[in-house]
Amino acid sequence: MTAKNMEDLVSLCKRRGFIFQSNDVYGGMKGLYDFGPMGVELKMNLKNSWWRSIVYERDDIEGLDSTILTSPTVLKYSGHEDTFSDPLVDCKQCKSRWRADQLDNNQCPSCSSNDLTEPRPFNLMFKTAIGPVDDGSSFAYLRPETAQQIFVNFKNIIDSTSRTPPFGIAQIGKSFRNEITPRNFIFRVREFEQMELEFFVKPGSDEDWHKYWVDQRLKWWSEQGVSSDKLKLLEVEKEELSHYSKATFDIMYEFPHGLEELEGVANRTDFDLGSHTKNQEDYEIKAKVTPNNSSTTKLAIQDLESKKWYIPFVIEPSAGVERGVLAILNEAYTQEEENNRTVLKLKSHLSPIKAAVIPLKRNNSDLVNLANKIKSELQSLGLGRVMIENSGNIGKNYRRHDEIGTPMCITIDFETLENQSVTVRDRDTMKQDRVDLSNISTYYSNYFKKN
Ligand code: GAP
Repeated sequence: MTAKNMEDLVSLCKRRGFIFQSNDVYGGMKGLYDFGPMGVELKMNLKNSWWRSIVYERDDIEGLDSTILTSPTVLKYSGHEDTFSDPLVDCKQCKSRWRADQLDNNQCPSCSSNDLTEPRPFNLMFKTAIGPVDDGSSFAYLRPETAQQIFVNFKNIIDSTSRTPPFGIAQIGKSFRNEITPRNFIFRVREFEQMELEFFVKPGSDEDWHKYWVDQRLKWWSEQGVSSDKLKLLEVEKEELSHYSKATFDIMYEFPHGLEELEGVANRTDFDLGSHTKNQEDYEIKAKVTPNNSSTTKLAIQDLESKKWYIPFVIEPSAGVERGVLAILNEAYTQEEENNRTVLKLKSHLSPIKAAVIPLKRNNSDLVNLANKIKSELQSLGLGRVMIENSGNIGKNYRRHDEIGTPMCITIDFETLENQSVTVRDRDTMKQDRVDLSNISTYYSNYFKKN
């Protein structure tokens, strides 16, 4: 079961410390959100899961962590200065601004007027001044995608790792877009994180690799607990494709506000490496690249058999972390009328807290000391955050940990002092097991192996 509507999720996220409106004490800023104590853990667990599957569990992908501030030259040759824009209209009646492509019947959503200006392109990139003098002569963009720094680091990475296609470069990090109408909670925001893979392949093998990565990404989302009947694959229409793409499949998800893009998997061809390379005329570049007289670096590979140099094609799965978090929260949200509780049935690798250790009586030193000992023992296993709950209100603790998705609660009671056993309550079944203290680490690690 999923959330009934977005309000359920927004309210749970605020109540339990997942997500807050940014700059809240001064009235908040539109399209910006902060991740609280539970949100930061969930987000980190999702990113770690992506990194594990993309980098550690394979042997053909390297990682990168590049800067957010990006030279205007990079974004000129990538085509973003000219094309990274949305159509903007102004309402002449109420002076509000809208994305032209998101209006119903060309009507202002605020005052219903049809008296709108003609659409004009609005570039979505944020700029910031570099250095002490802000006279417009020296500026950088906040990157609108993490991908460009992967392309401009291509030679550094092949020179330092001796990789040849097929291989990939992965990066997770912040991107910024001055969205005209940020909306739907964390779905469309102005500052967000992307998990991006640029996978370089020989021209001609690109279409097979494209299919391969679409399948891999669908499989990964279902391993994160996103049900396959809520995922749909949509091939983007030719006229809707980004300037760099030959073909794109959007992985769409049934969010509480409707079916929308969760991740895009694009065939970027040789457009980006071609646009950033020096001496473009030396290669048979297949895409219409941005002509470049400034690059100092050859972004090409020598074919070992034919000895000819070529520009690799790129397959790019690009997922938004915030959209991933929203989909996962929506999937996990469960209202159980019969048990009078809300429970987040998260996959255990994503749960912000792995186990809560609860002394039955608040500030009873025998119980609390034992709880601290168990917490340290489980924490040292390195599976994620284990937490002590020392409020003495067991019912309240269970309710809170159900709502933040903690897979197990371990209660230390007076019987524990006598017979060295604890009660372990399972989040989903609410079943309670009595477990010997000598066995608690094994019980805990076995649970995370199985779930
Ligand atoms: N490098 C390719 C690229 O950036 P995109 O389709 O514009 O392609 C990729 O973005 C993913 O980034 C999207 O599928 C979405 O998950 C996320 N994303 C894009 N804009 C976003 C926004 N304003 N707020 C939250 N996530 C966003």
